[in-house]
Amino acid sequence: MMRYMKTKSGKTLFPIGIGTWNIGGTFTADPGAKYKGAEPNYDNEAAETEAIRYSISKGQNHIDCAELYGAFHTDEVVGQAIAGLKREDLYIADKLWKTSVGDGLVRATVEQMLKKLGTDYLDMLYIHAPWDEVNWQEAIPQIDELIDEGIVRDFGVSNFTVADMEQTRKIAKHPIVANQMNYNVLYKDEVNQEFWDYCRENNIHIVAYQPVKRQEVLDSEVIQDIAKAHNATAAQVALAWLLTQGTLPIPKAINKQHIDENIAATAIELSAQDLELLADV
Ligand SMILES: NC(=O)c1ccc[n+]([C@@H]2O[C@H](COP(=O)([O-])OP(=O)(O)OC[C@H]3O[C@@H](n4cnc5c(N)ncnc54)[C@H](OP(=O)(O)O)[C@@H]3O)[C@@H](O)[C@H]2O)c1
Repeated sequence: MMRYMKTKSGKTLFPIGIGTWNIGGTFTADPGAKYKGAEPNYDNEAAETEAIRYSISKGQNHIDCAELYGAFHTDEVVGQAIAGLKREDLYIADKLWKTSVGDGLVRATVEQMLKKLGTDYLDMLYIHAPWDEVNWQEAIPQIDELIDEGIVRDFGVSNFTVADMEQTRKIAKHPIVANQMNYNVLYKDEVNQEFWDYCRENNIHIVAYQPVKRQEVLDSEVIQDIAKAHNATAAQVALAWLLTQGTLPIPKAINKQHIDENIAATAIELSAQDLELLADV
């Protein structure tokens, strides 16, 4: 069953988005790096650009970026992939890293994102996490201002608990449209009942990252058995489960077979019995 989502700016989102961690970037162990844990990787650019364009040609239109990914290089790869495409058909999300939340820094960071992406607005700007070591709250009025100016359309948070969301809603002029969370059929600890209730009450969408748990779902026998019964793959069952929950999964896939599978997962209907089994994996 296709579950398209309509945004307040009138765009229709394909039910499964495009993750970009590890596209145009990789991990780094360099302790002096500004983006600890991430650095650009220029090796696979052609294949990565091609994979994003392929995903878009098949109907996917929600692209999830972050300044952290590839230390901004991922934005550049996405920019190359979307060059010449109709901007209004795409929903582009980006995330502020902790070095960019301080007074006066958000605008400069967003300007850099726009330049690298080759666009003049972001559909979504997330605060990447509620870090303890920085005053991420400072970013909120700055994001409000960019939304007022139309440079950013939607405001999002990521890895925020209910308490973090509550605090944010007290400061922010604009609503939290989405919270991007680590959520998949094998990991349900953070997105629990209380979390769901809060998001539903406040119209906050849950965007599910690591939706196939970086391939770990492929190893589950329960998931494999359900997949066989649907003539599907374990990854497809994991995505179908997230769709059934009402979330927006954003798998990262470079391999075209993976991209095709992920798109086809929107057609899978899990039974009540499947869901019962998947509740306990
Ligand atoms: N907000 C945050 O803090 C946060 C944290 C982590 C991730 N994210 C976002 O969420 C996105 C997804 O998370 P993730 O990339 O960490 O993990 P993921 O999407 O669960 O896993 C990606 C891995 O799964 C493979 N894959 C994708 N579809 C598959 C399929 N149908 N069958 C088998 N393997 C498949 C990919 O392979 P190929 O690439 O070879 O196709 C890749 O190796 C990220 O890319 C990023 O945009 C956000």
